[in-house]
Amino acid sequence: MLCDVKELSIIIPTYNERENIGRLIEMIIESLRGLDFEIIVVDDNSPDGTGEFVEQLSHKVDNLKVIHRPGKLGLSSAILDGVNVAQGYAVGVIDADLQHPPQLLKEMFSKIGEGYDIVVASRYVKGGGIEGWSFTRKIISKTASFLAHLLLKRCRTVSDPLSGYFVFKKDVISGVKFEAKGYKILLEILEKGKYDKVSEVPYVFRSRKAGKSKMRFNEILNYVKLLMKLSDYRVLKFVTVGLSGVVVNLGSLWLLVNFFNFPQLYSAIFSIEFSIVNNFILNDFWTFKDRRSGNFFYRLIKFHGSALGPLINYIVYAFLLIFGVNYLVADAIGIICGFVANYLFSEFIVWR
Ligand code: GDD
Ligand code: MN
Repeated sequence: MLCDVKELSIIIPTYNERENIGRLIEMIIESLRGLDFEIIVVDDNSPDGTGEFVEQLSHKVDNLKVIHRPGKLGLSSAILDGVNVAQGYAVGVIDADLQHPPQLLKEMFSKIGEGYDIVVASRYVKGGGIEGWSFTRKIISKTASFLAHLLLKRCRTVSDPLSGYFVFKKDVISGVKFEAKGYKILLEILEKGKYDKVSEVPYVFRSRKAGKSKMRFNEILNYVKLLMKLSDYRVLKFVTVGLSGVVVNLGSLWLLVNFFNFPQLYSAIFSIEFSIVNNFILNDFWTFKDRRSGNFFYRLIKFHGSALGPLINYIVYAFLLIFGVNYLVADAIGIICGFVANYLFSEFIVWR
């Protein structure tokens, strides 16, 4: 048995890719000529016989291995099962369906040699792009990247953190515990891995010539769950804190007016301030507890800028009313805008 360390292990997850996999393997061998590499296909018992096909091929082709799994267990876990047996110093992940141009692998690997820890093939840098996607799928993809950038700090340096095509030093993920649900393993590597330098190379995501995409609606749900988990449920905590602030605001207003006979006009100034302090303390000790830096009072003062939220809420509300929008709908939209402004302010200014 060969146990030597290779330079590069290429992992190809497959589910019903019989018409593509042979050609892809040829192209990879062609473009990595001169390197010491291995190819690991991870097949989930594809009904179209991809697994047997690659098994046969592996008797003829050096350094080609197949992992057979009992059934369709998901893309991310397939990739990780491949990584587990990979002997390379670096690992590359590429789709089997020829949508990721294998000619780029060599350039990506050479960047590892230049000292980068992760190299991502990106659709969203200059020179990159997407061929043949519907407008809807483009919007979904853009929104998904936007949310990743919004919620996950460490992936902000990468313009395409949802790419399925990347190379990394195996050390980057040593000791990392993965969720491994769904499609987006790169996102988890970027959030949890140990690395300093990331590079992106542009590529055009080609349209599929054979077979079908396995992307299903429930992958969107998997993605949202993963985002929530990786961001430590920050948005949900922020919403909860916001709601507690509403209770504090209304409750203290009622107390001041009814028990202390404060004038209504001035009472609101105090009750708003109470709710700001309430929200600040809860967010500081809970929502953003891992992001506290510098002085507590300085953060508290900065957090007062989040009063911007209610202001925006009101402006949007008034504006929509003028255009004849129903007042409840107008307020609901106002609340959402105010909330987003508030969150952005907290995320990027107070607890940066
Ligand atoms: N073993 C295994 N198990 N392989 C799978 C599974 C699975 O459950 N699901 C999908 N695959 C394989 C496919 O056979 C293909 O080789 C690859 O994973 C990608 O699946 P597609 O169904 O073709 O995905 P896509 O084209 O919609 O999206 C891809 O490209 C995007 C852009 O880079 C994925 O790589 C996305 O993660 C990526 O964002
Ligand atoms: Mn595909």
